[in-house]
Amino acid sequence: AKADPAKGKVLVEQVCAACHGADGNSVAAANPSLAGQHADYIVKQLTEFKSGARKNPIMMGMAAPLSPEDMKNVGAYFSEQKIKPRDAADKALLPEGKKIFKGGVASTKIPACMACHGPSGAGIPAQYPRLGGQHAGYIVAQMTAFRSGERANNTVMRDIALKMTDAQIKAVAEYISGL
Ligand code: HEM
Ligand code: HEM
Repeated sequence: AKADPAKGKVLVEQVCAACHGADGNSVAAANPSLAGQHADYIVKQLTEFKSGARKNPIMMGMAAPLSPEDMKNVGAYFSEQKIKPRDAADKALLPEGKKIFKGGVASTKIPACMACHGPSGAGIPAQYPRLGGQHAGYIVAQMTAFRSGERANNTVMRDIALKMTDAQIKAVAEYISGL
């Protein structure tokens, strides 16, 4: 069946809005904004929370009752929302963050994030998620989880995170949140 964003909206307002915002712009940094995120990426993450391939106690509980149709519907709804621009908390880190995002770090083989996440952080449907406008704190948490192996649902991102220091992760996260 075709995704129905109107049905997705009802589910979001009843269940997801408390943490992700009714329009997909969340307030707390621990809860990712989902506005403007690719529908297929949202479906992939929900499927993996449900199967346990991506682990998070809150989201595993949230995804458990969702059918594949529910996932498509909420994905379609969130993907149609507009992400609100965010100011970087630490502007001093922006030049280094920009360098990493646009060009990577050749000496330690960190690739440019932009190659997969797009020059403006909008991502590339369907595989590569939007990062632009995301909370810096959430980006740092995910990079740290990829690096430790706690988030084990993508080997490309794990390999990249393993090459990055805490300082590099923080700098690129601040830059990304302002995109
Ligand atoms: C992560 C969807 C309800 C808290 C996510 C992600 C998706 C999602 C797709 C992954 C985002 C990404 O990878 O960028 C939904 C949907 C919901 C829902 C469709 C309603 C059915 C909630 C609620 C809470 C919550 C009610 C809080 C009680 C979180 C947190 C994460 C997250 C903390 C980050 C998990 C991590 O660190 O790996 N959610 N969510 N969500 N959500 Fe939800
Ligand atoms: C996911 C950051 C480079 C491919 C992510 C996520 C973050 C991130 C934070 C999780 C997004 C979320 O949970 O909403 C970065 C940074 C990069 C970088 C900081 C540069 C240092 C790349 C490159 C590629 C790539 C070069 C492709 C070769 C992906 C893919 C996912 C992803 C496929 C989705 C993983 C999944 O399905 O769970 N990236 N990324 N990234 N990234 Fe990157």
